[in-house]
Amino acid sequence: MSDEKYIISFEGECDRLERQSLMFGHERGFQMVSPQPGTRLLDAGCGSGWLSRLVARRMPDCEVVGVDINPDYVAFATARAEEEGLTNLSYRVGAVGKLPFEDGSFDTVWSLMLLMFLPDRCGAIADLARLLRPGGRLVTGQQGTPRHADAPRDPELEAQVETFFGIAFPGWHPQDIPLHMLQAGLSDIDVRIETDPVWTFLGAATEAQLRNHRETTTPGAMRMADALGGEAAARDFVERIVAFAADPGTVTVTGFWTVSGRKV
Ligand SMILES: C[S@@+](CC[C@H](N)C(=O)[O-])C[C@H]1O[C@@H](n2cnc3c(N)ncnc32)[C@H](O)[C@@H]1O
Repeated sequence: MSDEKYIISFEGECDRLERQSLMFGHERGFQMVSPQPGTRLLDAGCGSGWLSRLVARRMPDCEVVGVDINPDYVAFATARAEEEGLTNLSYRVGAVGKLPFEDGSFDTVWSLMLLMFLPDRCGAIADLARLLRPGGRLVTGQQGTPRHADAPRDPELEAQVETFFGIAFPGWHPQDIPLHMLQAGLSDIDVRIETDPVWTFLGAATEAQLRNHRETTTPGAMRMADALGGEAAARDFVERIVAFAADPGTVTVTGFWTVSGRKV
């Protein structure tokens, strides 16, 4: 795997992202991007490419480009687009922060569930804003920190959760995103917060949510096993945090933040 920084990556990640997109909701993703006819759009951190494919499929007169740091994911997304015969969609490898595109080359740039993995979100947002033509729009969407209603019900687990989040998601705080957009020279900043359908468990999580939880938590926990107390402790952490979500007596509430800004 070529992307050491994306801590939750694993062999089946693109298939997981495809499944997760169904939980997240395709219509929600499309509304987030709100593509205008005939425009050029960039999907930054595209992963499996489900949202760029959706936009390209529904908006045949738009030109859609997807970029991801991981060549394996770009290959997956490209193969899917080719299978569908989408000629207005292309993918390439690139890292947000130093993206391989000219200034002002897109009308809309979006990133979905990307910024929380990046240690330098200010630099990332500046790079994404750089790519917009005047009047163009940057849209970012990500979860806030999940909140367990009855914490600290299990202080040991809570401490491990803190450790996990601190290492896995150095840039988790979505409330900083509007500030970084202002610093990048964007205006008309808009913030919308709704309930996140992937990481909100009001009572027992669904089977699909639990599978997603296990698949996302395991690779990160194993990579940071030392900080969690060793390999056995890391495995135990995954089991306990998933069991918490499966418990009908628990509640986890997570917000989904959509933040957008316009290039002057
Ligand atoms: C949680 S996935 C989200 C994928 C997709 N946007 C979605 O919502 O299904 C995060 C993606 O960001 C990519 N990524 C991580 N760091 C990146 C960077 N610096 N530049 C570009 N892509 C990056 C990962 O490879 C991964 O595909």
